[in-house]
Amino acid sequence: MAEMQEVLDPYSIPLDEFDVSDPQLYENDAHWPYFERLRKEAPIHYCKDSLFGPYWSITRYADIMDIEKDTLTYSSFPAVVMGDQDPKFTVEQFIAMDPPKHDSQRKAVTAAVSPKSLSQLEPVIRRRVAGIMSELPLGVKFDWVERVSIELTTQMLATLFDFPFERRSKLTFWSDMATSSEEIAGDDSVSAVDRQAALQECLAEFTAIWQERAHQSPVGKTDFITLMAHSSAFANMGPMEFLGNLLLLIVGGNDTTRNSLSGGVLMLNENPAEYEKLCLDQSLIPSMVSEIIRYQTPVMHMRRTAAKDTQFKGHNIKAGDKVILWYVSANRDEAKIMRPDEFIIDRQGVRNHISFGFGVHRCMGNRLAEMQLRIVWEEIMKRFRRVQVVDIPKRLKSNFIRGITELPVVLIPH
Ligand code: HEM
Repeated sequence: MAEMQEVLDPYSIPLDEFDVSDPQLYENDAHWPYFERLRKEAPIHYCKDSLFGPYWSITRYADIMDIEKDTLTYSSFPAVVMGDQDPKFTVEQFIAMDPPKHDSQRKAVTAAVSPKSLSQLEPVIRRRVAGIMSELPLGVKFDWVERVSIELTTQMLATLFDFPFERRSKLTFWSDMATSSEEIAGDDSVSAVDRQAALQECLAEFTAIWQERAHQSPVGKTDFITLMAHSSAFANMGPMEFLGNLLLLIVGGNDTTRNSLSGGVLMLNENPAEYEKLCLDQSLIPSMVSEIIRYQTPVMHMRRTAAKDTQFKGHNIKAGDKVILWYVSANRDEAKIMRPDEFIIDRQGVRNHISFGFGVHRCMGNRLAEMQLRIVWEEIMKRFRRVQVVDIPKRLKSNFIRGITELPVVLIPH
């Protein structure tokens, strides 16, 4: 089936055989015409069988907003990705909870990314970006993903958790392990046994950090673990809920920002007129950052699960049905976004994308992500005339994270 979808024209496949959960589609960047057809002809579409069981696809912007607003009917529990967790290894996390428990846990950790924390983080991030960039070779091919995107997001994670800086690559390792799951998102690069062993190690290390911080004064500290250890919202948490929330905070800020950093380089290479615009007017960077996040859509979907039998636009959705909100499609919905398939760094209403979701779960780290990307582009423009992509990028095989795993570039100085 996966093989067939790669080569077939989606307009020649009967709609009731459409399965956009196929991770191969995304590795090949071949999903766009499937979603175009779904938006036009079957915006609320039922797939009766897939690797992840039956599911509904919601592909238009306005419909996704309606569903995100109705948390009583469309629950975030038990999971926000297509696949179900291994019943013997089930984590809990506030992104996959409904109000009121969701609200109190989220509130307890938002201080880490409040405007005040962000203004303290800005000079730290700028120093780190400068450090990373000053080490990069000029005129020689290297992988941007490894040297810049991963390194920078890893450094940021270490700061947000106040994790030992020299051991920071562990955070990226755990994050990659958490998202590398065939059952959950179709990434078959890691075995379930290795994955669970890595996540147990993550839990053990952070349990020790928690115990240490729980006995220290929280005054003036806004790292995630101190905030959790001193909040009643997390007081009665079991180990799998601690692990789930850790993974949420690790993964949330990792893959997403990483892939926006890589995606932006690729977009500016593929759209030379937009790069010209940027060179002429660098005050466009904040607007460009939002456009990069829309165009990349690093989180391609969120799942909701029907909490009761319901009707949506004439379709009967049954209690327990999986309802997939395809942000990657909604961000290309011509009914909401003008010329949606074009990358336009100064487009009007540039922040009106849905890459950060909507409603009570709207991304908690959205301002931090935008700030990181803004700083990176400010520093790139100071140092280099071009970041030139010199080979075809490799993409992640996943229906959840829209990822670039390799991006060979050459830096050309001013
Ligand atoms: C470009 C970067 C990012 C993108 C595209 C992104 C995307 C998302 C999306 C789609 C959601 C779910 C929204 C919904 O269900 O309506 C989300 C939630 C979340 N994000 Fe992000 N994210 C990014 C960066 C970050 C960063 C840097 C952090 C760091 C702390 C972060 C932390 C979170 C958390 C904790 C949640 C759960 C919020 C909740 O359930 O209330 N994200 N993000």
